[in-house]
Amino acid sequence: MKKNCILFAIVVLVAFLTSCKNESDEYIDPRGTDYAGSESCIQCHQTQYEMASKSSHFKATAPAISGNVLGDFDKGNHTFIYDKNTKLVMEKRNDSLYQVLYKNGKEVEAHRFEIVFGTKHAQTSVYWRDHNTYELPISYYNSINNWATSPGFPADKPYFDRMVVKDCYSCHSSNISSRNINQNSQDKNFLSIEVEDVIDKKTIVYGIDCERCHGPAKKHVDFHLKNPDVKTANSITSFKTLNRQQKLDACALCHAGNDGMKMKSRFDFKPGDNLSDFYRNTRSVTDTAQFDVHGNQFRLMSQSKCFIKSEKMDCITCHNPHENASKNLASYSKICMSCHQGLKHNETTLKTMSGSLLANNCVECHMPKKSSGAIKFQLSDSKQLSNYILRTHKIGIYSNNKK
Ligand code: HEC
Ligand code: HEC
Ligand code: HEC
Ligand code: HEC
Ligand code: HEC
Ligand code: HEC
Ligand code: HEC
Repeated sequence: MKKNCILFAIVVLVAFLTSCKNESDEYIDPRGTDYAGSESCIQCHQTQYEMASKSSHFKATAPAISGNVLGDFDKGNHTFIYDKNTKLVMEKRNDSLYQVLYKNGKEVEAHRFEIVFGTKHAQTSVYWRDHNTYELPISYYNSINNWATSPGFPADKPYFDRMVVKDCYSCHSSNISSRNINQNSQDKNFLSIEVEDVIDKKTIVYGIDCERCHGPAKKHVDFHLKNPDVKTANSITSFKTLNRQQKLDACALCHAGNDGMKMKSRFDFKPGDNLSDFYRNTRSVTDTAQFDVHGNQFRLMSQSKCFIKSEKMDCITCHNPHENASKNLASYSKICMSCHQGLKHNETTLKTMSGSLLANNCVECHMPKKSSGAIKFQLSDSKQLSNYILRTHKIGIYSNNKK
């Protein structure tokens, strides 16, 4: 009896000690034991880590703590007026940020910013309700430095019921797991909800991280930690070994619109996979098909002669996958000229600007900025829809090229 007690005590102690060790030493990725997490890459790939951690990809979703959230909460414009009795105010309360609805000066409801989507042109946020996320009705737009309606939201009344589904996270994050509540019917907390899927908050891996693009890398990390003298990559897919379509697919996964028929979750895609196994496009790329400038760089680029005739252009021709799109337009001109040596514009074009301007501005004329047809927004007190403007990836000759 006594022996058993001691044995039991030892077992408990060992279990306790090993669990402590696990918690402090070993990072456990919500995606499973095949994944190592981005932090583990720093020690061997500092350059890539430093670039990528500052990129919009890494910030495509983030917890809504101050520092991650754009926009004014106390000074300047932080009120959206729906009508003379109804307004929504962006407020900071203690350490949290809220959208607070007032009717006739009285607070009616308040929703906390929990997760932010985006940083470059716009930022929209979600709040938690019944184990799902819902979009806040007002978003922040950098082009106007101000708050305005979230895309598709009304400007005459507040709306809090748009669920932000797993699909959004499949392009804006590296993991999120949901489960079907019917399998958990004993759980009385979940029974009251009408929707079937509930999101498990603990499983979110924010942003598009290293392993979202490179695939699970735990084996790679373990191998190189054990074999520091090996300088050739082990247990990781090299983009160099992929064919053109595979390289394109790795970006088109999230940059080819969202109107296809889905077969598999985007989260399951690994470099080297074929996108056509994940979704089928319902619209084919023809000369005249109109694709939106938002979120569809791949199919717009696919319509360009440069892409078709060169037979080698891909996203990496112009972008470093670890960095944001360069803002230096002249740097793209150099890339254009790598394929267009001996280029001669006609007299009329040459008259529109000096030679050096013409040489540095290829993109202004041949990849002009266009309004998105999918995304519009409305400012407080305005009846008018404002445009969301992005550069097209359909490289071509545009009639209004004169600038
Ligand atoms: C202990 C060192 C070590 C760690 C940690 C490590 N790597 Fe590597 N990795 C290497 C070595 C060595 C190479 C081969 C030389 C090179 O390309 O830098 C390599 C190459 C790569 C390549 C290029 C493969 C190719 O052939 O094109 C990728 C991609 C990569 N690693 C991703 C990752 C990711 C993602 C992580 C973190 C999850 C990571 N590595 C962590 C050592 C490491
Ligand atoms: C898992 C989805 C996903 C994949 C895969 C992906 N992207 Fe993105 N990309 C996004 C999202 C979402 C954004 C917008 C991020 C933001 O601003 O919040 C973005 C933004 C960008 C930007 C603009 C960044 C800036 O601020 O200028 C470029 C350029 C880009 N992606 C290129 C690529 C290339 C090249 C690849 C393939 C190597 C790729 N992306 C793969 C989802 C993805
Ligand atoms: C948006 C997708 C994307 C993300 C996120 C990403 N990579 Fe890459 N990475 C690529 C692509 C595509 C290449 C191939 C580039 C080429 O062929 O020029 C690459 C190449 C590499 C290489 C080979 C050397 C080089 O720089 O070309 C290493 C190492 C690497 N990545 C590590 C990382 C690490 C570490 C992270 C996270 C800190 C990361 N990558 C995040 C897409 C990505
Ligand atoms: C098929 C992939 C995909 C899906 C699904 C998707 N997005 Fe995006 N989203 C992108 C890409 C790519 C960009 C950046 C480039 C662009 O606008 O063309 C982007 C841009 C954004 C931006 C602006 C980011 C910035 O930095 O300017 C916001 C906000 C956003 N998305 C929110 C959402 C929300 C909310 C959902 C779900 C309702 C969603 N997205 C669904 C791919 C996607
Ligand atoms: C990888 C090589 C490559 C790159 C990089 C490239 N192009 Fe091209 N581009 C081509 C080829 C090939 C054609 C087709 C020429 C033909 O029809 O004989 C073409 C055609 C064009 C045309 C004529 C389009 C039409 O519809 O008639 C324009 C304009 C053009 N390119 C501008 C650019 C600009 C601007 C850039 C940089 C942003 C660029 N190209 C980058 C290879 C390239
Ligand atoms: C011929 C060069 C070229 C190629 C190829 C190219 N891009 Fe771009 N990309 C640009 C330019 C130029 C910009 C705009 C930079 C600016 O205006 O600040 C840009 C911007 C972007 C942006 C940010 C959108 C915005 O307006 O902020 C995304 C996202 C993007 N590219 C994704 C891709 C993807 C995905 C591919 C491959 C399907 C790709 N690009 C191929 C030249 C290119
Ligand atoms: C002021 C606007 C403007 C700028 C800047 C500009 N282009 Fe053009 N480009 C045009 C117009 C207009 C045409 C059609 C008439 C012509 O050929 O001059 C054209 C035609 C072309 C063609 C097709 C020529 C052919 O013979 O089929 C190519 C390729 C091209 N441009 C590439 C470039 C490159 C590369 C740059 C930057 C070095 C550039 N353009 C800068 C306006 C511009």
